[in-house]
Amino acid sequence: MSADRRAAALRQGVAGREVMVTTPLAHRVSLPVAAKLPTPPRVEFAGVQKIFQQGDRPIVAVEDLSFTVQNEEFVSIIGPSGCGKSTALKLLAGLDRPSRGRILIDGVEVDRPQAKVAFMLQKDLLLPWRTVIGNVTLGLEVQGQPPAARRERAMDLIRKVGLDGFEESYPRQLSGGMRQRVALARTLAVDPEILLLDEPLSALDYQTKLRMEEELVRILSEEHKTVLLITHDIAEAVSVSDKVLVCSTRPGRIKAEHAMPLAKAHSPEAARNNPEFVHYFDLLWKELKSDVAD
Ligand SMILES: Nc1ncnc2c1ncn2[C@@H]1O[C@H](COP(=O)(O)OP(=O)(O)O)[C@@H](O)[C@H]1O
Ligand SMILES: [Mg+2]
Repeated sequence: MSADRRAAALRQGVAGREVMVTTPLAHRVSLPVAAKLPTPPRVEFAGVQKIFQQGDRPIVAVEDLSFTVQNEEFVSIIGPSGCGKSTALKLLAGLDRPSRGRILIDGVEVDRPQAKVAFMLQKDLLLPWRTVIGNVTLGLEVQGQPPAARRERAMDLIRKVGLDGFEESYPRQLSGGMRQRVALARTLAVDPEILLLDEPLSALDYQTKLRMEEELVRILSEEHKTVLLITHDIAEAVSVSDKVLVCSTRPGRIKAEHAMPLAKAHSPEAARNNPEFVHYFDLLWKELKSDVAD
């Protein structure tokens, strides 16, 4: 648990699973009373609605969106285009406010961007004039970390994403898959606890995508991250997620939620090779099919 999460938990009186509550009476008789308080979910959407104004037309992007994500859970969201998936992540990142309902992180309402949350998008958004290491250290520079510490953290992540030897290369010298690895290393450098991934692999060719899935799952589980992934790819959802939320057509709400046991092994490849894979794939496809136009 990071220092700021621990501090937030302590503020709410939820340090781990069990806290000692000393009542005035207990204090007098020197008998602390142990009380069990529930730990709030890492992420909670409660009845979230978002309305955008498009000209003079209100667009209800999401309606009554409710779900939770537990600590270190890997949750995917699938659903038709325009059902409000990206909107939901932007609200969670604190980049916009819901029109109605509440979004909580560790039991605290989100009203601005937070250091513990990081976003990774389909477009890698690397700075072309910076080298690989220059891109990875960007957030650490903003945080004011000393050069030696920045370099050490960045090199560690560059190795983790399999790019050692390329630290002095420029983005234009790298393939799409390598650029996404740099983007992943940059996202992880500032050590966020919750990662929001908006179709980060969908622009990659199929083989690169499979390799990246493998690395993403390995690295995120090693780093104990909580993850919310938007994907169009049902096979990806089955092979990387602990849980899949299926979104209805706009206005988006969660029409089904399915536990995905195959990703437990932290290897998407093993999940795809599991005989049960087809069962979970079909389950999600049937949910989606009813919303897809013929
Ligand atoms: N900033 C915005 N202003 C107006 N309309 C928006 C804005 N962002 C999203 N929308 C609308 O909200 C709906 C959901 O969009 P989005 O969250 O991007 O869907 P998804 O990611 O599921 O494809 C769409 O109809 C889109 O046009
Ligand atoms: Mg989107």
